[in-house]
Amino acid sequence: MEIRTYPDPILKTPAEPVKNVDGQLQGLIDDMIEIMYAAPGIGLAANQVGELKRVIVFDLEPGEAGSKPGVLINPEIVLGGDEILREEACLSVVDYSAEVARKTEAIVKGLDRHGNPLTIEAKDLLLAICLQHETDHINGVLFIDRISSLKRGLYKKRLKKILKGK
Ligand code: NI
Repeated sequence: MEIRTYPDPILKTPAEPVKNVDGQLQGLIDDMIEIMYAAPGIGLAANQVGELKRVIVFDLEPGEAGSKPGVLINPEIVLGGDEILREEACLSVVDYSAEVARKTEAIVKGLDRHGNPLTIEAKDLLLAICLQHETDHINGVLFIDRISSLKRGLYKKRLKKILKGK
């Protein structure tokens, strides 16, 4: 399993709701957490490892004592608070970061890794942004879809050069 990067079409494809929280899904979740920590990143969606399932994992303080990975299955997000511009990057968008307009708060409802209902009220800005970014992923949306077409065009040009050089 490896991290898919733009312009891989799987990143543009909305993921399917999870029907069974079974052993296979537990395996996927464990793999995603491992890949997220190894990257390292603070969040990962299943599309990013090639699985079109509505699963996200996150940990804002990887490696910190007491910090545990969060898991949400079939997350539904409700945005709140104010709009804010913050710099974002993504494990699937090579060598780029840009300011993205997000909301300062979010409430996310879904299932935990055991299939039990879970609601996360994200009043912490970083968590709120992380959850918006990851739920975007399972809807087939990347942060570069939320910047101006001019900026996105410049990035695409630069990426072409980077990929040619490989
Ligand atoms: Ni991302």
